[in-house]
Amino acid sequence: MYVCICNALNTGAVNKAIDDGASTVAQVYKACGAAPQCGKCKCAIREMLDDRTPLKVSGQPVAGALPGTPADPLRVAVRAA
Ligand code: FES
Repeated sequence: MYVCICNALNTGAVNKAIDDGASTVAQVYKACGAAPQCGKCKCAIREMLDDRTPLKVSGQPVAGALPGTPADPLRVAVRAA
């Protein structure tokens, strides 16, 4: 599925950019060799970043922050508080 029509970026390209370390919309565009045109895709890319970026507490990744990982991130965050 296309996420960005202007740059012909599909979900695979955006997810790869995120998995390779992009943590902002601008970094996703850059990693894909693209630049924003109309900007209508920014919210979709932001949602993909939020869905795929692991939660961090005090700069440390939280176990279970991604679906399918073992611990419940909310319980870990409460225990750490
Ligand atoms: S849809 Fe991505 S810049 Fe237009």
